[in-house]
Amino acid sequence: MERLRPPKRESRGSAAWLAGDPAAGGALPTDTVLAPTRFLPAPDAGAAPPLCDGRRSIAEIARDGGMVVEMVVDLLGGLYREGLVADVGEADVPPLLFLEHARALALQLRREAQERRPALEALFASGAYTRRLAVGYLVEVTHFIGSAASHIGAAIAHAPDEPLRLMLAEYLEEEYWHGALMERSLRAAGLDDADLSRAQPLPATLAVMNAWRHAAGTDLLLYGGLVAITESGGGDAETVEATFARTVGQGVLPEAVWRPYFEHAIGDGDADHLALSRAIFAGAGPLPGRRRDALRRALLLHTAGVLEMEHAIIGFYADAEGPGVHGLDWSSSR
Ligand SMILES: [Fe+2]
Repeated sequence: MERLRPPKRESRGSAAWLAGDPAAGGALPTDTVLAPTRFLPAPDAGAAPPLCDGRRSIAEIARDGGMVVEMVVDLLGGLYREGLVADVGEADVPPLLFLEHARALALQLRREAQERRPALEALFASGAYTRRLAVGYLVEVTHFIGSAASHIGAAIAHAPDEPLRLMLAEYLEEEYWHGALMERSLRAAGLDDADLSRAQPLPATLAVMNAWRHAAGTDLLLYGGLVAITESGGGDAETVEATFARTVGQGVLPEAVWRPYFEHAIGDGDADHLALSRAIFAGAGPLPGRRRDALRRALLLHTAGVLEMEHAIIGFYADAEGPGVHGLDWSSSR
């Protein structure tokens, strides 16, 4: 008789993951009413009145303009995917299309907010940052990454069906050890056991971690939305490599510090966690207008919260001199 062998884990190529295919986004129904978002560039004075006025449906716009309705669906669907127009009212927008739209809205808000008030991206691109800020950023990111089990575990417990539970379990398997991976960065930067045990997240970092935990326990669609606006998809590896080379070239921190951080980014991209958010939405069914509004508002608030975290990191760690980690001590010996 052949010896027993432990079974191999089945791959994630399950029907549910495939349902997360971006091509399955769908189209706007012709009874959708759209209004411009504030991210749509203002028309020139004297230009034709806008197609989307928050009152007429797509079918009415096509009729009034003497246009083929499919063409209008295509055109406005493109603007919707980019977050430049938003649905008002109760049309049945396909959930995956809505997810793409809500993600784009969050990215538009992030871009706009950074134009008004540059955050970490601009600082790291310029190279004009202190060693302490760079290490502090890695410390705060490590806190966040280390919280993965606390929110993915809750999401597993609240998943409505078996395929989603299994997908989230795979997500946890891919993420739970990344906090330890990031600790290699921190140790290469010179932090020791005492620093790591003293470190506590900045309150703004904690707020972001708690937003994930809360969503995981109360609203799986919102959780999927957070995954969508945070995780990268496959195909980002070249950008990550280029950013790694640029960052090491700035000479603020040695390669050994940045390497685990960027390797983590590559690994998460390869795992295509963005597909998880699509799988969560694919099973959602039609979302009422009020539900879509609530999701949009929560995702935009979260986007603002992440920028607050970045500004808090800059506020605490930007000076060259100061504590290497944030921690609240009560002993008088330090
Ligand atoms: Fe990760």
